[in-house]
Amino acid sequence: MISVCNVSKRFGAQVVLEHVSLEIPEGRTTAIVGPSGVGKSVLLKLIMGILQPDEGEIFVFGENMTAARSETERNRIRECLGVLFQAAALFDSLTVYENVCFPLIERLHLSPKEAHPRVVEILESLSLTDYAANFPEEISIGMRKRVGLARALVTRPKVVLFDEPNTGLDPLVGQEVYDLIKETKATWGYTGIVISHELPEVFQVADRVVMLLKGSIVKDGTPQEFIDSDNPAVQQFLHGRTDGPIRIQ
Ligand SMILES: Nc1ncnc2c1ncn2[C@@H]1O[C@H](COP(=O)(O)OP(=O)(O)OP(=O)(O)O)[C@@H](O)[C@H]1O
Ligand SMILES: [Mg+2]
Repeated sequence: MISVCNVSKRFGAQVVLEHVSLEIPEGRTTAIVGPSGVGKSVLLKLIMGILQPDEGEIFVFGENMTAARSETERNRIRECLGVLFQAAALFDSLTVYENVCFPLIERLHLSPKEAHPRVVEILESLSLTDYAANFPEEISIGMRKRVGLARALVTRPKVVLFDEPNTGLDPLVGQEVYDLIKETKATWGYTGIVISHELPEVFQVADRVVMLLKGSIVKDGTPQEFIDSDNPAVQQFLHGRTDGPIRIQ
């Protein structure tokens, strides 16, 4: 369970999030949606403790991430979180195997020998075994996303955060990533947080959808409640219209 309590975040004069409160329940998948630049990645980084809020607090399974005083303490709280960053963010100089092994050694402090069976297992279950010795630049973008997902899941996190898992992918590969989210969630049963601006596609993996606009949550409901909503901003975003309350930046 993750609680975002009355969180505000500014960069200079720019207010990105203003008094945002959100409870992410265990076992479900919550999609956080909204137009580009609205603060979705900032919210994810606040939950991860990579950024600090100006106001409010963030709790991860009851532990106060905001009050954590050192990187060591934040790392301990982060142990239950796995993340697939917006651009997969693999290490170019490491092989697929080494990329997936990295969090086990760096974050969980396992020895290479202890880490090995876990890396082999996750590579196998994500059909990556044949690519273990390849470098990221030698594999397709879709395959890199798969490696990023393997790296996020290898620590067996209770919560997996996906930042725009489909951005920059063609529709078929994008669908493959949604299928992977569904499959891995069914296998490992994690709590999912999926950040996306792809509506309605993201609905297929979401139990609940939270839409951000102008620093606040404008709609929080099931995918069906989004489709049925008469909120003009929701309808504009859902149908990709240029006219409406959302200004295109
Ligand atoms: N470290 C930072 N320093 C200054 N401004 C930042 C920083 N990180 C984000 N911002 C600003 O905060 C706003 C929200 O950024 P964010 O990356 O969260 O948007 P987003 O909703 O994830 O957009 P996208 O859909 O394009 O990924 C943007 O205007 C961005 O320029
Ligand atoms: Mg983003």
